[in-house]
Amino acid sequence: DALRTIVQQMPKAELHIHIEGSLEPELIFALAQRNGVSLPYESVAQLRQAYDFADLQSFLDIYYAGASVLREERDFYDMTMAYLRRAHADNVRHAEIFFDPQTHTARGVPMAAVVGGIFRACQDGPISASLIMCFLRHLSEEEAIATLEEALPFRDKIIGVGLDSSERGHPPEKFMRVFRRCKELGFHLVAHAGEEGPPAYIETALDLLEVERIDHGVRCLEDPRLTERLARERIALTVCPLSNVKLRVFPDMAAHNLPALLAAGLRVTINSDDPAYFGGYLNDNFEAAFAALPLTLAHAEALARNSFGAAFLGAAAKRAHL
Ligand code: ADE
Ligand code: ZN
Repeated sequence: DALRTIVQQMPKAELHIHIEGSLEPELIFALAQRNGVSLPYESVAQLRQAYDFADLQSFLDIYYAGASVLREERDFYDMTMAYLRRAHADNVRHAEIFFDPQTHTARGVPMAAVVGGIFRACQDGPISASLIMCFLRHLSEEEAIATLEEALPFRDKIIGVGLDSSERGHPPEKFMRVFRRCKELGFHLVAHAGEEGPPAYIETALDLLEVERIDHGVRCLEDPRLTERLARERIALTVCPLSNVKLRVFPDMAAHNLPALLAAGLRVTINSDDPAYFGGYLNDNFEAAFAALPLTLAHAEALARNSFGAAFLGAAAKRAHL
């Protein structure tokens, strides 16, 4: 229908996409063959069948296994270029791309191959794109600090840092020192919080890590005072509808709290998180949310406006997109 067409065609920014989560099963098999990596799956179809998740951790186990086929600079380039082309087809004009260096450096892949390959694709690709380096929160803060040190030679290729992986039991405050150092270095700061973890993690991400956006944040509504604060301070939430259903944060799309987040006056954006694993890219997320939920043209326009408004772009670039 008409709203569906408008939603698909409107220009958007994507602010929450893990590049390793854009690795399609076909590319996983192609890279495994190219690099001589053996996989515990016989076929693309069998791998896809494993994409039935009970929670965040059951997804992460398969996501880290899939990333093990990435060995060379060109692997990171090919993966990133495939995403940028796919995003361009969805009328994404600008993407802020997460990457997880520790998933690769732990396997002996040089930081230069990881950052270099992803960055080179961003330069060659069809849309504007920048990089946000994420620390894995299930690992120690010392390991995050060592990763930051390893990345500093590539400081000019990275606009910000984030925090991802297993949320429960790994609160933001575990990473206070490394985030303080990143702020001093002039990085933009974001963190996953309130996906599976409690609203208190959203508060400590804001107060102790001093992040500028919250990734997910959907559990904020359990705390009315926090919700009011997020609205008042215009903190963006990078919400990922298909991810939330696949990882059973909500039982189905009709139960998603996106309409309530918008009604609370929050600066919500829609994003794909790990599109190869969760059943779709950015327009699929818009389409699934708009099909199942009472959302209007005004909501679509607000979501698109918020995506550019919350992007780490200069004022002139934002105006050019809006
Ligand atoms: N890594 C990739 N996707 C993630 C998510 N949705 N939450 C936490 N860590 C992630
Ligand atoms: Zn995420």
